[in-house]
Amino acid sequence: MSALTEHFRLTDGRSIPKIGFGTWQTPDDVAPEAVRTAIEAGYTHIDTARAYENEAGVGTGLRAAGIAREHVFVTTKVPAQFKSYDEAKAAIDTSLKELDLGYIDLLLIHAPKPWPQMFTDGAPRYFDENLDVWLAMEKAYARGDVRSLGVSNFDVADIQNITSRGDVAPVVNQIRFHVGHTQPAVTAYCQSHGIVVEAYSPLGTGKLLGQPDLVAMAARYDVSVAQLCIRYTLQKDTLPLPKSTHAEFIRANTQVDFLIADADMATLDALTVS
Ligand code: A2P
Repeated sequence: MSALTEHFRLTDGRSIPKIGFGTWQTPDDVAPEAVRTAIEAGYTHIDTARAYENEAGVGTGLRAAGIAREHVFVTTKVPAQFKSYDEAKAAIDTSLKELDLGYIDLLLIHAPKPWPQMFTDGAPRYFDENLDVWLAMEKAYARGDVRSLGVSNFDVADIQNITSRGDVAPVVNQIRFHVGHTQPAVTAYCQSHGIVVEAYSPLGTGKLLGQPDLVAMAARYDVSVAQLCIRYTLQKDTLPLPKSTHAEFIRANTQVDFLIADADMATLDALTVS
């Protein structure tokens, strides 16, 4: 078995490929070729968002790749700044139209707060507003336009707000997760409640690639730092979403069927990355 062909089981009964292809910061005109290359390399899971402004390009790339719709898993997200039922409904309709793939496999709330407030102390929590967004997502789920629902950048209280008040439980929380940034509290909460943790920026948006400790460890395993970092997230039972626009990186990032020894995992767990 290869990590590329394995799946996590979701609590709604569906399954999700264990590695996804990230498209954050991939321009719409670059996305078709990147996505087509990813599918050719064996990815069957593509992650996009309304906010990335590349859903049309992702859809075009998937159609160009010629992969059967049911053999690919596509995630998109309701923008963080939309915090009402009507705004969420409009965003979902636009995503469905832009992707033009018939349905969305997984729809996430992109963040619990609008981005300008995400990292501001004392910002409001938007609990009622996120529930309104969730209700619009549940409607799309009931119609069959969306097959699974989840969240992104949520902390434990944000998740509990949805699980205690919504009808459908989130099956995924997509968070920033990489060597040196593992968000232990929310990760442990999700994993103990069957919520799959998706790791965005598994390479620290590229910042980890020149880190001397990682360069030395990767050399011992005869892999690249990117491969070491992706493997690390898999061994932490998270679902990595490596992003690249270069064919050789896209392909190399699928070659992660080696095992990081426990002692090295402990070293990576303890690494602080500046
Ligand atoms: P590019 O998009 O120019 O191909 P993350 O997934 O953590 O967000 O990191 C994405 C960044 O890492 C991008 O700048 C991407 O470059 C770069 N990258 C992705 N895969 C590799 C790789 N195998 N080797 C080197 N750089 C990579």
